[in-house]
Amino acid sequence: MTQQDGRERWALVLGASSGFGAAVSTAWARAGFHILGVHLDLRGTIAAAEAVRDGIAATGVEVTFYNVNAADDEKRAGVVASIGELFAERRAAGHEPYIGAFLHSLAFGATLPYITTDEASKELSRRQLEMTADVMAHSMLYWVRDLFHAGLLGRGSRLYAMTSEGATLAVPTYGAVSAAKAALEAHVRQLALELMSQGITVNAIRAGVTDTPALHRIPNWEHLLAEAERRNPGNRTTRPEDVADALVALARPETHWMTGNIIGVDGGEVMGQRDPSR
Ligand SMILES: NC(=O)c1ccc[n+]([C@@H]2O[C@H](COP(=O)([O-])OP(=O)(O)OC[C@H]3O[C@@H](n4cnc5c(N)ncnc54)[C@H](O)[C@@H]3O)[C@@H](O)[C@H]2O)c1
Repeated sequence: MTQQDGRERWALVLGASSGFGAAVSTAWARAGFHILGVHLDLRGTIAAAEAVRDGIAATGVEVTFYNVNAADDEKRAGVVASIGELFAERRAAGHEPYIGAFLHSLAFGATLPYITTDEASKELSRRQLEMTADVMAHSMLYWVRDLFHAGLLGRGSRLYAMTSEGATLAVPTYGAVSAAKAALEAHVRQLALELMSQGITVNAIRAGVTDTPALHRIPNWEHLLAEAERRNPGNRTTRPEDVADALVALARPETHWMTGNIIGVDGGEVMGQRDPSR
């Protein structure tokens, strides 16, 4: 069912080649969305990215992946123009395409301390702090604004961004990402405020700690994962498919009055309920 109200539903996922982005793209394809994916993969991971794309194509929907830096203004403009051309072709063929679902799921951050007295270890640089905020937070605004002005969003579009408990916690070496998540959540609220009159909703998904390549870039990630499992009332950590299932439900028309929220998808992990016997 790629049609909704007679319109043709497409989904755009930033970070489509791995982790949450890959699982959500696949699930949205199974739910009937044609898929547009943006990712950044070099020699070591390109085969895995192509496997995700091919898996989506096997569900029978249209799929186009763009292997570009989503934080680069020119690359973003190129992708938006390319989607515009694709939609013009679809309209010429009698369809009414729009981006019904969008996910910002980019993971690219520096994990270094702000201050260290250990001469052997590095402190977070200004450039690293600003790049982390640009990729993981501010790019949400730039993409959504460009898609809106290009006429690719529409009444009923559901926009989501991935946040984490780290937005409100201090975790060793996570400062730059923590600040980016706090900014991302603010962007989600602001976009929600400004787009509700257009019938477009914007929400953040706060996933539990999940075993993905991005997690492995956080020093001491094994401890974070084990601690999350210990305190999760669901007796396991979150999987990308848990978030994908939630986003299939949340991309439905019936969620039209939900906007500006931070929605936990973590099996209750954030409640911090600890069973002393575990
Ligand atoms: N893994 C966790 O425990 C966890 C928990 C909560 C929230 N999150 C958030 O979920 C999001 C996705 O994380 P993940 O764990 O799925 O990571 P991941 O490493 O599995 O996937 C990251 C994706 O982002 C893409 N990407 C990174 N930088 C890019 C760039 N500059 N341009 C284009 N594509 C780029 C990669 O190609 C990949 O597709 C992140 O925002 C992360 O902070 C992760």
